[in-house]
Amino acid sequence: MDETQVEQTIAKLAERISQDYKGKEIHLICVLKGGVFFTCELAKRISVPVTLDFMSVSSYGAGTSSSGVVKIVKDLDESITGKEVLIVEDIIDSGRTLSYLMKLLKQRNPASVKLCTMLDKPERRVVEDVVVDYVGFHIPDQFVVGYGLDYNQRYRNLPYIGVVELEE
Ligand code: IMP
Ligand code: MG
Repeated sequence: MDETQVEQTIAKLAERISQDYKGKEIHLICVLKGGVFFTCELAKRISVPVTLDFMSVSSYGAGTSSSGVVKIVKDLDESITGKEVLIVEDIIDSGRTLSYLMKLLKQRNPASVKLCTMLDKPERRVVEDVVVDYVGFHIPDQFVVGYGLDYNQRYRNLPYIGVVELEE
């Protein structure tokens, strides 16, 4: 996906989100670090009032395979009680991270919790309970980088999304 394709898709998502939340205020929760680029581009294009908070969880070590262990590295700064929460993720792969995060955030009594992801790899899903409300692109089971996504912390700053060819 080149930069133009990504930006057009984000603009469409922002339009849909703005319609769906008409008359409300959205509390965007950016999942660090991968979600940062997508969150900024999305937030800029949303026309209803937006507040922002950040959370950092880790489910992956170095490399490309899921460990299944989710750890909160940085929790939210503000309470989400009574807020219309929209979680913004770079990619949903196994779904473990989001399944855990959704459960955790719902316990804090927000008005609602929805989920928006730039990329979704549905073939890789191992948890059943993750409902994704907004998806930028559905992609096959390939490892991708750019637009926030990394390989061993590199390539997040690429302005496009590209597939990594891994050597055997
Ligand atoms: P899940 O818990 O397996 O859904 O893991 C989601 C997280 O894994 C994402 O937030 C990314 O940090 C990472 N991830 C999954 N697939 C990719 C990929 O193709 N490229 C880069 N990071 C990925
Ligand atoms: Mg991530």
